[in-house]
Amino acid sequence: MPTQPIFHITGVTFPRAHAALRPAGRFAPAGRGYARPMNAHGPHLSLDEFMIEMGREPVSSLTHERLMDLAHRVRLSDGLIASRTCFAANTYARNLVCRTPAFELLVLCWRQGHESTIHDHAGSLNAISVHGGELTSRIFVPAAGRPAGTGPVELLAEERVRPGGWTGVDRHGIHQLANTTDDDLVTVHVYAPPLTELVVYSTDSAQTERRPLRYTLADDLT
Ligand SMILES: [Fe+2]
Repeated sequence: MPTQPIFHITGVTFPRAHAALRPAGRFAPAGRGYARPMNAHGPHLSLDEFMIEMGREPVSSLTHERLMDLAHRVRLSDGLIASRTCFAANTYARNLVCRTPAFELLVLCWRQGHESTIHDHAGSLNAISVHGGELTSRIFVPAAGRPAGTGPVELLAEERVRPGGWTGVDRHGIHQLANTTDDDLVTVHVYAPPLTELVVYSTDSAQTERRPLRYTLADDLT
């Protein structure tokens, strides 16, 4: 069965207003919650091999770098991704592929104009690859003087990720994903541990809100 790498590097743009925050190189420094550029080490992994590797150490001690490395090495079949490529009308669809105590793997499907909230993952690590279409990924940080975990937040960086490209956020990284193109977008996400809720932020309010997550159900699909 044909396979393909699920991650690949693309470029980042930075808003002029935040030039002072522009990281050296492509990615923000540690603490900004964003993945460093890296090359995969080690052999390719099937999905069951990935599940075994993810179970080798407690997810509480798993680093973002380790998750990105393992995710970079996974080879998912086009048939598996196609079987979870289902869209919803009003918002992006979250289609579960597999879930263990250590992680979950989903295919997210985005129509034109669909976008996420500005959020962090309440302590989960995240790796994202683009399977089809173009992903707009925005990274946020607390506004000047605001402590971590509070709002309002401000935009640090925005990037476009194309098929084969990858991105991700660390346990407390704040981001927003969107399909800003006219075409459908299909992305593959790993969360470790599985994502049960988001912390939602605002660019104009100090308030944050915890929101539970659900998988897209058959009745939601178009
Ligand atoms: Fe996210």
